[in-house]
Amino acid sequence: MVSLKAKVGAMTFDKPGMVASGIMDETGPSMVRMLDCGAGAVVSKSVGLEPNAGHANPCFMETEGGMVNAMGLPNPGIELFEEEMKVAVPHGRIVGSIYGAGPDDFRTLAGKMEDYGACTVELNLSCPHAKGYGMEVGTDPAMVKAIVSAVKSAVSIPVWAKLTPNTHILPDIGRAVQDAGGDAVVAINTLKAMVISPEFARPILSNKFGGLSGKALKPVGVRAVYDLRTVLDIPIVGVGGISTWKDAAEYIMAGASAFQIGSAVLTEGPGVFDTINCGLERFMEEYGYGSISDMEGAAHE
Ligand code: FUM
Repeated sequence: MVSLKAKVGAMTFDKPGMVASGIMDETGPSMVRMLDCGAGAVVSKSVGLEPNAGHANPCFMETEGGMVNAMGLPNPGIELFEEEMKVAVPHGRIVGSIYGAGPDDFRTLAGKMEDYGACTVELNLSCPHAKGYGMEVGTDPAMVKAIVSAVKSAVSIPVWAKLTPNTHILPDIGRAVQDAGGDAVVAINTLKAMVISPEFARPILSNKFGGLSGKALKPVGVRAVYDLRTVLDIPIVGVGGISTWKDAAEYIMAGASAFQIGSAVLTEGPGVFDTINCGLERFMEEYGYGSISDMEGAAHE
């Protein structure tokens, strides 16, 4: 009998797959639905201090092997988000994703998420298309260290930092999270991307740039997790292009303790969690892995 329990530092999840921030996690009922579909946790849509309408349409475009989005971090603001958390938290593990412009914003937002019952806070240091937020603050190791330290001093729940692949200093950023006492890194967010309409001779998205997610992103994410595993002692949560149990196994063998699924919730439907859980179980039985942690980092040995 194999165990699908996943341990990320001090936190244990019954199932290794979580819903990534941005998909089916804007409202309390959608988060509950995903927990009912076999997700071990749901990471909320990233929430900021004030309500934000996000970018104008078009803000989403399908592309070969994935999709490019520039939603622009739409959210109701942290005060109103309490209502969604009240609905979701009694049903399972909710990771509260937050974004801000610097340490003070993140400290305030993290404190609220803890008050609302989030099991963990995930810092969005990686959105590739939001002026003044996301990767604009998350690619400077000194800023990352200051943000993570500020949040660690304000909350007692675990602090995860979601990192961007849009940098050549990913290991330095990971180290900055670890040095500041961060409990885990989440890798990766979307790759900065663009789609152009030849007919209109213009970028299709209103924001021009967006973030590539979906199957095309997986080898980039697996490489990022592998690289981070070689320099970090803290756990890594893998995300980017996972839609099958094999994809999940690749991330775990690269060094992830658990994984998140975003785009595949749209392309495969919410049943993707149960399908991946069953596939992983069969593989683990056949290949003699008793637990997710037995498989973790196997590709390094
Ligand atoms: O535009 C968005 O809301 C995306 C956020 C992200 O990539 O983190």
